[in-house]
Amino acid sequence: MILEISNLTKSFGRVRALNGLNLKVDRGVTGLIGPNGSGKTTTIKISLGLLKADDGSVRVFGMDPWTQGYEIRRRLGVLHEKPSYPGELTGLELLKYKASFCGIRDAERRAREVIEAVGLKFAMDRPIKSYSAGMVQRLGLAQAIIGHPEFVILDEPTSNLDPTGRAEILDLIASLAREEDISFLISTHILSELERVCERVAVILNGRIVAEGSLQSMAEKYSLNEYTVELAEPDILAQSLEKLDFIEDLRVDEDRGRIYVKARDADALKRTIFKLALEMNLHIISIKPTYGVLEQIYRHILEC
Ligand SMILES: Nc1ncnc2c1ncn2[C@@H]1O[C@H](COP(=O)(O)OP(=O)(O)OP(=O)(O)O)[C@@H](O)[C@H]1O
Ligand SMILES: [Mg+2]
Repeated sequence: MILEISNLTKSFGRVRALNGLNLKVDRGVTGLIGPNGSGKTTTIKISLGLLKADDGSVRVFGMDPWTQGYEIRRRLGVLHEKPSYPGELTGLELLKYKASFCGIRDAERRAREVIEAVGLKFAMDRPIKSYSAGMVQRLGLAQAIIGHPEFVILDEPTSNLDPTGRAEILDLIASLAREEDISFLISTHILSELERVCERVAVILNGRIVAEGSLQSMAEKYSLNEYTVELAEPDILAQSLEKLDFIEDLRVDEDRGRIYVKARDADALKRTIFKLALEMNLHIISIKPTYGVLEQIYRHILEC
């Protein structure tokens, strides 16, 4: 086990940020998802030895972060939520320093390699203070992976990135996990893209983990069974669907040519729709889950 947390509590004055949190992070890519203020950053800071817990136990690589934080921080890579780097340095200079700190012999070569991997080669000789928020975040990812760590913690790695940037960074994370066997803990509340890279998910709410497991098992357990059917004549199909007993809820958006339908049995829904479409000569454009896998899990848990 890379990270093992049990019964962690932490208060800031009267605010109870962590409330008996239990979490195990093994090899692979784990998503830590939860709303603003749920305790993600606090959990990460305690795991890095940057904050002291009130109670409970935390082990990272078997070590206690509060007493062996320096050791832990040398062995893993971190991208903080609001990273700030010396603005006068260029991106390349910062990465060269970091590579040397990590004990890499050819620091210059490794720095160039990593800056290219995160798509910042064009700006590597510019001072960091001239970087946009998204560029700083890419640089943050570069410094997190530069030392070939076995474990990397990313706190909201995509929050400042545009959709293309997000996809690029997540693809990079997926390929690092696959090809360099790096394990990741990724905290976020942007769910749609994360499901492309996560194998496991833990949902945090009010300072506790309220659900965790493999993405697949969570998807099965927390599936919302809500589908969006796109077609030219939604009204006609909706009238026939409404009568079926496995339909729990149904809503028509005529302007957009959509039916939103909640069904107990997804396969039966699809079969029936295609059958009805043939009989009534309707042209179905698509049937898709209304929400992505992670969003379904998240919505399901938060609504409970
Ligand atoms: N230094 C601090 N002083 C006072 N309260 C704090 C401090 N750090 C965190 N908190 C409080 O602890 C709770 C958890 O905060 P935390 O930053 O861990 O949430 P988060 O899940 O990372 O949220 P976000 O998604 O907004 O980053 C919040 O209520 C927050 O206001
Ligand atoms: Mg946070």
